[in-house]
Amino acid sequence: MQQLITGMEILHVAAECYPVAKAGGLGDVVGALPKYQNMLGHIAKVVLPMYRTKFLYENNWEVVHKSGTSLGNWWFEYTIIRESTNKLGFDLYLVDINGLLDREKVYGYDDDNERFLAFQIAVVHWLNSWQHKPDVVHVHDHHTALIPFMMQSCYDFQRLRNIPTVITIHNAQYQGWLGWEKSNLIPRWDGWNWGLLDWNKAINPLACGIKCAWKVTTVSNSYLEELRYNSNGLEALFEYERGKSSGILNGIDTDVWDPATDTYLDKHYSVKTVDEGKQANKEIVCRTFNLDIEKPLIVFIGRLVGEKAADLLPRAIEDALFYIGRKMNFMILGSGEPHVEHQLSSLQNPYVGYYNSQIGYNEKLSHQLYAAADFLLMPSRVEPCGLNQMYSMRYGTIPMVTKTGGLKDTVKDFGEPQGYGICFDHPAVGEITHAVYRAVELYQQETKVKNIRKKIMQLDFSWNTSAKKYLDLYESLS
Ligand code: ADP
Ligand code: GLC
Repeated sequence: MQQLITGMEILHVAAECYPVAKAGGLGDVVGALPKYQNMLGHIAKVVLPMYRTKFLYENNWEVVHKSGTSLGNWWFEYTIIRESTNKLGFDLYLVDINGLLDREKVYGYDDDNERFLAFQIAVVHWLNSWQHKPDVVHVHDHHTALIPFMMQSCYDFQRLRNIPTVITIHNAQYQGWLGWEKSNLIPRWDGWNWGLLDWNKAINPLACGIKCAWKVTTVSNSYLEELRYNSNGLEALFEYERGKSSGILNGIDTDVWDPATDTYLDKHYSVKTVDEGKQANKEIVCRTFNLDIEKPLIVFIGRLVGEKAADLLPRAIEDALFYIGRKMNFMILGSGEPHVEHQLSSLQNPYVGYYNSQIGYNEKLSHQLYAAADFLLMPSRVEPCGLNQMYSMRYGTIPMVTKTGGLKDTVKDFGEPQGYGICFDHPAVGEITHAVYRAVELYQQETKVKNIRKKIMQLDFSWNTSAKKYLDLYESLS
């Protein structure tokens, strides 16, 4: 059996991949999973759009393919380049489509639908020219979810129809909807298969990926269960496709996320030196952001959107400081909905010394905060997996989370036997405030906190187990 999977060739196609381009956890996963698959003796490669990122300019590239194809009536040339030193631990290919993909941001343009459609068409067009085909094509989220359909239903790509495909759903909220008037943008396809593209009278790339991929995975078991009754309109589809769906919990890249070597940190530490190490990092952060070093530091890092319940933060923070008293510090790092950004910035004045925020995306500061914080707050309404809580634990920071999705699968309340986090049932202001109260109380119990820190730093959230689960899944398709 083992023989069969040795040296499988896996092609990951995605919109993000750390450190090339990252907007959130998708980037972290696509930057790590292939590396671990390669370490297990396989050949995993990644293809993503050629955005105009720092990584592009600071590395060496070679052109591996040049061709042209069309997006509806628009003929476009595309170029595939490969990073020439294999510095990421896997072959990285970027697709350059002049004017369409080579922009600074990953998402957020009016023509995002067309951009990702052209990207997918170029990838499939290129793949069609390969002499030796990969053993599996693994796509991630809606930006790449039309690929399984194109491989099976587009006349020009019939050579690809027997290659197994897997789709991983990192977030089902976003589905990439397209009006049917755009159906001509997809390369000539078998009209009998229109039902594969359609969901509620629109082309729904995510739904189409779920229907067409040979296997569907979600990034935690609990999320898979939740999708059957809460998936932004796809509930019936998830119920129908249960047979080919499974949950595989994300791992974290323990090379990148290691407080003993993290290049973003001024003070390194390990399990043995966690208390001094965290104190030193906390001092730096508290000095920089004018916070009180004596008080427990509670941080939030993430996208300021409804799924993360970021809208509840301003009120919860004010309530906590009012009802519990100024016994804690808060620090927020995030960007997202403008009104939430504004509210979180406005709290700075009234609560100088106890509260601060940094609006924007800052990779370095995120690492510093995971190291400096005593607690990490994640009151998410929906959390398919969540990486922040795993990073925080690796850095000895106690997570405070709602019992949902991957948070439920990775954090156990300290009130339970063998527990180590703070969990609450619902993303509600009162429950967040109560969790803050519990954090403040826990912080007083120094020995308990020290023991929890040591314990969570040693929990195994590495990719080793999950990378093997994906390989077993691919193997089941061969
Ligand atoms: P999601 O992908 O839903 O945003 P995850 O928990 O899976 O949530 O991953 C979020 C990733 O993005 C983590 O690596 C986190 O540290 C990072 N991140 C989120 N917001 C910011 C920010 N403003 N600055 C730096 N890193 C951020
Ligand atoms: C998504 C989810 C997040 C998950 C990440 C990586 O962005 O919102 O929960 O951890 O993808 O799979």
